[in-house]
Order: sequence, then C-alpha cells, then structure tokens
Amino acid sequence: MTMQMPAAPLPRGSLTPKSYSAEEIETEAKRLQKVINQGQLWDLETCKTIAPLTLEINELKRANDVFLIAHSYQTPDIVYGVADSVSDSYSLSKAARDAPQQTILFSSVRFMAETAKIVSPHKTVLHPSPEAGCSLSDSITAADVRDLKARYPGVPVACYINTSAEVKAEVDVCVTSSNYLRICEKLPGDRLIFVPDRLMGKHLTEHLAGRKEVINYDGECYVHATFTGEKIRSWRSRTAEHGIELKVLSHPECDADVIAESDVVGSSEKLMEEALRLGAEGKPDIMLITECGTADRVRAESDNEINLIGTCVMCRYMKMTQLEDILQALRDPHPAQIIELDEEIISRAQHSLNEMFRLAE
Ligand code: 13P
Ligand code: SF4
Repeated sequence: MTMQMPAAPLPRGSLTPKSYSAEEIETEAKRLQKVINQGQLWDLETCKTIAPLTLEINELKRANDVFLIAHSYQTPDIVYGVADSVSDSYSLSKAARDAPQQTILFSSVRFMAETAKIVSPHKTVLHPSPEAGCSLSDSITAADVRDLKARYPGVPVACYINTSAEVKAEVDVCVTSSNYLRICEKLPGDRLIFVPDRLMGKHLTEHLAGRKEVINYDGECYVHATFTGEKIRSWRSRTAEHGIELKVLSHPECDADVIAESDVVGSSEKLMEEALRLGAEGKPDIMLITECGTADRVRAESDNEINLIGTCVMCRYMKMTQLEDILQALRDPHPAQIIELDEEIISRAQHSLNEMFRLAE
C-alpha cells in the first residue's frame, strides 16, 4: 500500500466577515438555530457568532451564481447554514454534473471535489480545504492500479469513488456505497479487481461467493474500521434486557462482522432516510454505525423522538472545512482551492464515472 501526501494546510485566521446590523444577525441566528435543530449545542448566542459568515457566504453565492454542495459529514453550520445540496457521494456527483451554475463549491474531502470537476470539466470547482484527504483515497496511487492490472491482465477493475482522479483514470468503472454490489455483479467474467477498500471488498467477496472471485486491495476508512460486531452484540443484549428493540444501521465501509449484525446497510443518505423512517414508525432506538455527521442530520431532520444509542466516530478530514474556508474560497480563492486536473486524466476518469452512472441506473 502506498500513501499519497495531503496538500499543505492553508494559512487561516486573518479573515474578517462583513459587518451586519444587530437585527440582521438576530434574524439569521434564529434561522440557523431552527434549521440546525440542536438547541443545546447550537444555542442562539453560538448561532450569532456564525451569522455574519453564513450571511456573507449566502450573499456571495447569489451574487456569483455558485452552487454550494456539502457532503452529509460536513458540520451542521455548513449543511444547514449555507449548502444548496446535501447527500451521499453518488447523489452529489449527479448534483454537480446537473447543476446549471458555472461554479460549484464542494464542501467535503478532495476526492469528491475532483469527481465534480471530472463530471463537469467546463465548470469552475472550488474546494475550500485542499488538505482534506481521506484514508481510503490516500491509500492507493495510479501506479498501484497499473501494477494490479499487469498482474491480472484482462480482469475488470472497479474502484470505490473514494479515490483520486488519477486512480479513476486507470479503472473500468467507479462505484459508491449505494451501488457497489449491483455494479460489481454486472461486470463481465468470473473475476474482478476491487480497490481500495479491503472491508467493503470483504463484504463484496462474501456477496459474490460462488459467482465471482474478488481480488482485493488493503486500504480502509479509518473511521468505519473502528466499529466491531462485538460492540453491537453487547449493546443488543444489554438493551434487550430492558425491553428495547434496537435497530442497527451501518455503512458498508465497516467490517463484514458489523454488516452481519446490521438491520440496514447503506450510504450516508440511505442511513439517514432509514433512521427517519424508523422514528416515524415508532421505533426510535437506533444505533448509527457511521460518521457523526449522519447523526447530526437525523437530529436536525426528524420530526419524531429518536434515541441514538452508542456512539458515532468523527472523520478528521471531513471536519477540516470551516465556514471561514468557504468564505475565503468564494471571495478570493487561493490557487489550491481551485480544482485543476489534467485534460487526459479527466477524459479517462470520465469513462469510469459514466460507466457507473450507466450501470447504477
Ligand atoms: P457516502 O457515499 O455513503 O456518503 O460515503 C462517503 C464516505 O466517505 C463515507 O465515509
Ligand atoms: Fe474517507 Fe472515511 Fe473520512 Fe469517508 S469517513 S472521507 S471514507 S476517511
């Protein structure tokens, strides 16, 4: 396994937002408090401290016709304060492709912003936090994929979307957490190479057993790799003693042992929708085995009482982006905040993403 080096952090701390009247701040803070919907953490005074930032960001978006996309794992001030579209990586790739605006600001980790550039190369794609990598995408390089292809000539290669543009340029098809089983099943032949997630690869291997052999790589999401089936089993037995019917929802980047213990496995968006559905059906006791952003979204968007049991884990890369970085990228982006990719890489990576859109629908 090779490691890609993340970009250097940007200079921070010198940015002052525009001044707004006390009345404008008060109105914006009340709006933020309502949409974030977590009164204890985001009280009115806290919301007042971010109101000048969200006001100016929303003004600049309108003035410059920018579409602001945020992944579900971004913090609630971004998700509910300034984003126009929030979802999982599959839906956000389509949102980036289909947005009529000529500028997209992608608040998330680098590979997602690169994906937006690949599917809409004529647009300007801003990425506020260039240092925000991902333990999966940083685990593999294009040279690693070329080596695998040389060792297994003619075997189709599928890559998880959590990879660099250069890796996407080397493979036959991309997949995401919402379609990896469906797409890999459809690939020709009785073998496939799957990179870079060894845990999703393990799940895929079990799913395709007897039909296809899966050649796996050894990357992992350091967030989802921390969960264990043992933890779920002990929570289930303790809660059952108190008559609680626990529903377990997990992301497919988790180990196969976690997946075997889960009632629902799916993308960040699917887990959020399922939690809302269970809450509406009067099943409020839910264990969300994923990054903490999904729990924030469930709290913000549920009309029903939901009791999130156990703990989530935060992704340090996803949480790197701050409102200040978004404001900087909108006002006067640093060169590192503008996604630039080689034209040949774009056109080869486009092929693997277009194959994903074709096979997923
Ligand atoms: P989703 O596509 O499910 O949002 O997953 C992206 C990701 O990075 C999960 O860790
Ligand atoms: Fe990467 Fe895991 Fe963070 Fe998602 S949660 S961005 S897979 S490190």
